[in-house]
Amino acid sequence: MHDRLIDVELDGALRPRTLADYVGQKKLKEKLAVYLEAARNRSEALDHVLLYGPPGLGKTTLAHIIAYELGVGIRITSGPAIEKPGDLAAILTNALDEGDVLFIDEIHRLGRVAEEHLYPAMEDFKIDIILGQGPAARTLRLDLPRFTLIGATTRPGLITGPMRSRFGIIEHLEYYTEAELAQGVNRDAQLLGFGLAEEAALEIGRRARGTMRIAKRLLRRVRDYAEVAGEEIISLARAQAALNELGTDEMGLDARDRAILESLIKKFAGGPVGLETLATAVSEDKATLEEIYEPFLIQKGFIKRTPRGRVATERAYQHLGYSYTPQAQAELFSELEDTLNGS
Ligand SMILES: Nc1ncnc2c1ncn2[C@@H]1O[C@H](COP(=O)(O)OP(=O)(O)OP(=O)(O)O)[C@@H](O)[C@H]1O
Ligand SMILES: [Mg+2]
Repeated sequence: MHDRLIDVELDGALRPRTLADYVGQKKLKEKLAVYLEAARNRSEALDHVLLYGPPGLGKTTLAHIIAYELGVGIRITSGPAIEKPGDLAAILTNALDEGDVLFIDEIHRLGRVAEEHLYPAMEDFKIDIILGQGPAARTLRLDLPRFTLIGATTRPGLITGPMRSRFGIIEHLEYYTEAELAQGVNRDAQLLGFGLAEEAALEIGRRARGTMRIAKRLLRRVRDYAEVAGEEIISLARAQAALNELGTDEMGLDARDRAILESLIKKFAGGPVGLETLATAVSEDKATLEEIYEPFLIQKGFIKRTPRGRVATERAYQHLGYSYTPQAQAELFSELEDTLNGS
């Protein structure tokens, strides 16, 4: 929560405003550019958009950019903020002009009833309002301006089928490459007016877990160290020293990522182990493990998904400093059995 507040404070100046300023996500940007132009040319509202992907990759930012590029207003709310259907009706009937964007963050947390009221709003731009109570209750159907709903979620698996099917554009955000993350932090350094060596930017990119928010946060901490040390242009050595203090390693894994790999290797002899069992072993919610930690570890080649469960790769063993031999695995496994048998 705290990190988000910091983001919000700084974002005024730093958040990219246009599609051209938005680093990376090349394929997604190309597609969006077409959809945006087509909608503008037809003077129509853009189709509803669902953006999904791990936290900090830029979903909220992209929603703002879409509104900016369309030249329309944006209203922001979130799934948990819409408790009653009345909350939704209030936003839809009062707050939106023709063509505006309604951004619903954490849309997977929208309540069932509110969700059902959203369907006709998305499809027919109409909403039903119930007046009165009991047998005297009447339903009033109101016309809404044609708006674009942009939903964002880190948990696409929790979006219901009917909801999903009402989005015309469903897009996934990818982890950023080192170079893209470096580009993102360079941009911020420039805007904030301080120097950053090219290798220092790349080092931050390397250690940012593929995540723009993390890269930008690391940049701010590295800058603190440099300022205190009176360094004018942040050097690679300074960045490395600061990043070591912050606990992200050279592969961009944080303490939590390493704990997951460690558990997989030591408690389960490298696997295969079921997701649920692994989640319990690291005291993590299963969905969080699956949708937030695992994708990055898989992308980096530390974990493999097999039909029998999750397996630690040779790379994971090496990274954590364990030797990877079938023998080592067997020994670890017998150690585990001994522990289980209480010897
Ligand atoms: N492609 C990008 N280029 C430049 N800056 C970016 C980009 N994507 C994200 N950022 C910056 O990274 C930070 C996190 O982005 P944002 O808040 O949009 O992420 P999010 O996907 O909405 O995360 P969450 O799921 O936690 O809400 C912001 O400070 C934003 O300005
Ligand atoms: Mg967001």
